[in-house]
Amino acid sequence: MSSPSFSPLRGELRVPGDKSISHRAVMLGALAKGTTEITGFLPGADCLSTVSCFRAMGVRITQEGDHVTVRGQGLHSLRKPDGVLDCGNSGTTMRLLGGILAPQPFDTILTGDSSVRKRPMDRIITPLSMMGADIRSIPGNGCPPLAVSGKQLRGISYESPAASAQVKSAVLLAGLSAEGKTSVTEPALSRDHSERMLRAFGAEVLTATAPDGRPVITVTPAEELFASAVSVPGDISSAAYFICGALMVPGSDLLLRNVGINPTRSGLLDVVRAMGGDVEILSESSAGDAEPAADLRVRASRLRGTVIGGDLIPRLIDELPVIAAMACTAEGITVIRDAKELKVKESDRIRVMAEELTKMGAAVQETEDGLLIEGGRPLRGAAIDSRGDHRIAMTFSVLGLLADGPVMISAPECVSVSDPDFFRDLRKVTGS
Ligand code: S3P
Repeated sequence: MSSPSFSPLRGELRVPGDKSISHRAVMLGALAKGTTEITGFLPGADCLSTVSCFRAMGVRITQEGDHVTVRGQGLHSLRKPDGVLDCGNSGTTMRLLGGILAPQPFDTILTGDSSVRKRPMDRIITPLSMMGADIRSIPGNGCPPLAVSGKQLRGISYESPAASAQVKSAVLLAGLSAEGKTSVTEPALSRDHSERMLRAFGAEVLTATAPDGRPVITVTPAEELFASAVSVPGDISSAAYFICGALMVPGSDLLLRNVGINPTRSGLLDVVRAMGGDVEILSESSAGDAEPAADLRVRASRLRGTVIGGDLIPRLIDELPVIAAMACTAEGITVIRDAKELKVKESDRIRVMAEELTKMGAAVQETEDGLLIEGGRPLRGAAIDSRGDHRIAMTFSVLGLLADGPVMISAPECVSVSDPDFFRDLRKVTGS
């Protein structure tokens, strides 16, 4: 496809529901007793993979657009599926399911598409095995498919080497059905949607701070979870393309409605502030464990380079490709470091960003754990290889707005993983 050029982003937009929260709402609804009504659900391919896995285990789920009803029968009600469980492109589905399936009284096999089958699963296999789980990589390389043979688990104290919400969630979900409490210590706090939602469904989950400052999350085994209504806010990771687009393209003035701004996810807003970007937070709502949300008004800004690293990284991990793109339009140098995790996402996002930004004329250098970007070079049109990675395809669609020639993106349909209406919405706000 070719992108429109130099069109400002204007008007108003409601981005799709949060992907992480949508997955968890279906999962906890399936494990709870009673009917869970989910509004604002993301009907993207990844979350639909989660829905189909639970349907295959006997859970009644109806989905119409962004409204989902899950009729859960309780924590011990899942049925052995007839075939393998297909997680599609979704690493979140596979890793969280690993934790849910480990204590079930049946055997399962988890598989996914060619990208998921390259993703490291030893990060969940290690802690779940410490709990007594029988979970292994069938090819023997730490990657899917995974064979899970249900076992009685015991609680552990796990020191996670990475700030990964998928690892933390897999261990906490397994801990719900273990003997004794389970705790996860993280090097820095990763997104806390599981903790918030588990509490809303009646589980005891405590977040404390270790003497050295690291967060420690502890779950107490539960007899049952209880259904709870879930209202999913807009996904800040999907809003990011429109936020960065509006900041970069002169003349933009865009209002984004109901965007989730959970502090464990809102690192992008910190970076925007540091770069001199104009994002106004309007009508903010937050109460207790509910997910905070706000309307965001974004106006085109003169941006300057910044340094992004340390504890900020888990708070914006999925936004780094579009932040790297935005840095190409800023004055001065932007450093992204401590972001090795980017190498094991849907693609090696460090390598891919360096290669594809270079094709457009940007000054970018790949480092061991991030990128060095010198902003301010004129950007030219190019044929971009998205590698079928939704976040790469969306990043270059937005950067293409600033190129002096067409930007052609391979496999643009991959955006349906997290934002099926992305191109429609981009056309709407650019008036093209
Ligand atoms: C997710 C956690 C993050 C993120 C992914 C979704 C989640 O992955 O990159 O898109 O929903 O828990 P890690 O936990 O591997 O950092």
